[in-house]
Order: sequence, then C-alpha cells, then structure tokens
Amino acid sequence: MKRIGVLTSGGDAPGMNAAIRSVVRTAAVEGLEVRGIMRGYEGLIAGEMIELNPRSVSNILSRGGTVLKTARSKEFLLESGQKKAIQILEKNDIDGLVVIGGNGSLQGAIALERVGNIRTIGVPGTIDNDLGSTDYTIGCHTSVDTALDAIDKIRDTVTSMERIYVVEVMGREEPYIAIMAALAGGAEEVLYPGSSLDLTAVAEEIKVAEAKGKRSWIIILSEGYGDAVTVSREIADLTGYEVRPVTLGHVQRGGSPNAPDRILASIMGAYAVRALISGEKGKMVAMKGHSLHLVSYNEACFEREKDKKLNQDLYNITKLLAS
Ligand code: F6P
Repeated sequence: MKRIGVLTSGGDAPGMNAAIRSVVRTAAVEGLEVRGIMRGYEGLIAGEMIELNPRSVSNILSRGGTVLKTARSKEFLLESGQKKAIQILEKNDIDGLVVIGGNGSLQGAIALERVGNIRTIGVPGTIDNDLGSTDYTIGCHTSVDTALDAIDKIRDTVTSMERIYVVEVMGREEPYIAIMAALAGGAEEVLYPGSSLDLTAVAEEIKVAEAKGKRSWIIILSEGYGDAVTVSREIADLTGYEVRPVTLGHVQRGGSPNAPDRILASIMGAYAVRALISGEKGKMVAMKGHSLHLVSYNEACFEREKDKKLNQDLYNITKLLAS
C-alpha cells in the first residue's frame, strides 16, 4: 500500500478535523501518501481531491466542521455513481480509503467494496451516537455540551418568567443527546423515541406540579419523538398554559470539539490507518470501554440495539432529581 484516501461524508460533526489530522500524520509516519477527497462521495465521483501532508493539517485539531467539506450524495446511491467512484480511486492509485461519517457514510463504504476492488475502514463521525458496537461516535460529546449550554441559558429565562419550554434536540431516532443533555441540564421532562410517555401524561404531571407551586419547566424533546412546535401546541392545548418551543437545530453540529471528541478522533484516525496497513477492510473502528477494536460494517450500521434499560435508568434519575 502506497497511497490512501480520506473523506468525510454526511452531516459534519465536531472532531472530524481531528480525525483527518490523525489519519494524515499517522499515514506520513508509516510512509504512505494521502489524498484528501473533497465533499464526501459527491466529490469522489467528481474526482475532487487534494494532496495532504502533515503540514496541511496544521491547526485544524480544534476546528469544528470538516476542512474536506461534506455532502449527502444522491448520485452515489446509484450503482453507476459507485462505479464512477471506483474508477476515480483506481485512476489515482488509491489502495485504501478512510471514511469518516455516520450510518449512511458507512453504508457508502459497503457499496464501494461491493462494486470494486478497494479496502475501506470507517471512523464513526456523527453527533447522533447511533452506530452499533461503539460506546461513542466522534462529535456526540461536543453536541451534548452545546445543547447543555443552550439549556442552561434557557433555564435563566424559564425560571425568571415561570414558563414551560419544549427544547428540541437532534439525534434522529437515537435519544443520546436528549437524555444526556436532560440529565446534565436538570430538565423536568424528556420525550424520546422508545419512551412510553405520552403528552396527556406530561400535561397531567404539569398540572399536578403547578398545584404544588412548580411553575417552570424545561422539557427536552428528541427530534425522533416529534417537533417542538407541534409538541408545544399539544401540551398547551392539554394544560391551558403557554408553552414555548425552541429548536436548537444545527448549532448542535458546530463549534470547537471538546476534549473527549478530540481524543476519540485522534486515536480512531490513527487506528484506522494502522488497520488498513495490516490488511483489514470492511470494518469500522469502535470504542468499547476504554479500548478500540474493529467491528464489521454490518454490526455498526444494522445491529444497533438501543440500550432501553440504560435510557430508562438515566431518565429515572433525571426525573428523580427534577422532583
Ligand atoms: O446525523 C446528524 C444530523 O445532524 C441529525 O441529528 C439530523 O437529524 C440530521 O443530521 C440533519 O441533517 P441535515 O443537516 O442534512 O438536515
């Protein structure tokens, strides 16, 4: 192996740059050349790539987003697009590829290996923390911090004006950001996919608490459960109180990665390069406990078991402490 490629794909996540830096510098130490592929699979199909060396990744460790840019490519979903991508990789003598991204990006790597002769290793980069067999994905820690910072600020006005707020956080069907931010932020309630709570029960709870003198509420809403405007309106209708919606949106994807995400990205990037060198393919770098290992793309993409018990336990503590 002489030359490898690296790309970031799907939604950007804080820490992707730290992973790129780690891939490039580890590869250089191992005597490999690196091509940075721009705009994920979209740029790969278009042949957009740049030469990367240890100096070209200086000062990106602390930056959010991805210097390689990213995209959600429609063309790459088609086999014709995947074959074009393989041709570009062959033309540029790229023997191995590090794919940094979430579920869709890793499924892209599966497709590449199916249609052509390329070895890929995935690095989990998504704020959602929704991949299987890994405790964490790059970006999830910073995203929780960002949501928490917003919740703390919203708390000031919630308390001062004695209002009810529904704060919607990202995460697709995975409640990680919602549950962690709720616990850390002292939220009164959390609505997430998989919970058995319905809005009638929440309304009842608010009325009972109100009768005892509790007037301010922060309800964290995972986007997989519903949207803040609709849920606020329904709770308002059920309680007769004013309920304000806040959607945190893409602020949760931005900002300088925090220490856990920088560390995770740095060790995973290096691990991915070493995995390629040792002949591995079709696997994602995963963290379990404190150690890294490789898991099949299948396990990573399709065998995610929501830890319902853990979610329920964290939810119970959140509720206990909000009493
Ligand atoms: O997967 C990351 C994520 O931010 C999700 O939490 C969210 O649902 C989605 O991406 C938003 O995607 P886009 O930026 O393409 O609208």
